Amino acid sequence: MSSELSKIWLSSPHMGGQEQEFVAKAFEENWIAPLGPNVNGFEEDLQQYLGNDKHIGVLSSGTAAIHLALVQLGVSRGDEVICQSFTFCGSANPIMYQGATPIFVDSEISTWNICPKALEEAIVDRISKGKKPKAIIPVHLYGMPYKVDEVAAVAQKYSIPIIEDAAESLGSTYKSRNCGTFGEFAALSFNGNKIITTSGGGALVCHTKFAKDKTVFYSTQARDAAPHYQHSEIGFNYRMSNISAGIGRGQMKVLDEHVGLRRKMFHFYKSIFETIEGVEVFTEPDDHFFSNHWLSAITVHPELTKGISREDLRLHLDQYNIESRPLWKPMHLQPVFEKMPFYGGQVAEHLFERGLCLPSGSNLSDEDRTRIKKAILEIF
Ligand SMILES: Cc1ncc(COP(=O)(O)O)c(C=O)c1O
Repeated sequence: MSSELSKIWLSSPHMGGQEQEFVAKAFEENWIAPLGPNVNGFEEDLQQYLGNDKHIGVLSSGTAAIHLALVQLGVSRGDEVICQSFTFCGSANPIMYQGATPIFVDSEISTWNICPKALEEAIVDRISKGKKPKAIIPVHLYGMPYKVDEVAAVAQKYSIPIIEDAAESLGSTYKSRNCGTFGEFAALSFNGNKIITTSGGGALVCHTKFAKDKTVFYSTQARDAAPHYQHSEIGFNYRMSNISAGIGRGQMKVLDEHVGLRRKMFHFYKSIFETIEGVEVFTEPDDHFFSNHWLSAITVHPELTKGISREDLRLHLDQYNIESRPLWKPMHLQPVFEKMPFYGGQVAEHLFERGLCLPSGSNLSDEDRTRIKKAILEIF
């Protein structure tokens, strides 16, 4: 059955049309090397979007952005960094790159993001064991803002900087303020599956020009000011290329449209599951939260669905060549991180067991939606 039907992807790149003009111009002017007008232009576009008091450095990935934030906060061997457990490994891996230890914290049920109470428990316990965490990495998962005020209050109480993982949340807001502007640093991702993409890329949002300049310095191999190559620090090859940034400039023109279309997918699933008992669509807890609904996600409760599980639904959709994916497997349950400390209960674990992400792309058609709806209604 599936081979006859075109694939419906979870979240595929969606070009707006103007990307090629920026890329073509880079070719015409031979700005193929990293750096160049598109890099500066893309940074300016992002600054305009997030607020002109921000200073942004575009990089090769969101993971690189988190890494350079850790570098600038002086995280090094033997340090501890708190990280939301319920996330993609890109949030946590850079802690390991620095030789530090991730301390994982559970989520709370209304935003699926870091639980402020468990966060404070973790901080108090780590301090009592002799080490104050050097940074906190909360995540706006699937575009849903975390409890920004509550998390900031805990961070301030213990004077620990926040690295905001906004990889999935460009276009989301909390109390009308943009996600990506709350932390001491914030990381954005333009990976191929994100709300806008540069085929691969990321950005570090900084609060000072000094921090942005440092970001550029570290991302271009930490070159000292000298006519020859001179290095006093270890750097990285993390800068975004002028070609990728050209795609980014074109994508910025359709970002708001993409947010509207992703939210349309969320409302589409809301209307389908309204009448299906035992399936909940991940929804903003109140009006303070505005999610870009990068991915629409549901939890399936087999005790209420006559036994139909998340996995039954996933395999059923797969038969129709419709991609869906279990929610992120929490980091504290990953083999590579299983020895790392964890604070909290089983919120993230239960979400992983029952949760599913559904096709959410801004490029899905009415025909795609009809197919998805038919397949969902068939199994329920
Ligand atoms: C929550 C989260 N953090 C970090 C990353 C890392 O971003 P990148 O893939 O651009 O390195 C991603 C996405 O891929 C992500 O979803």
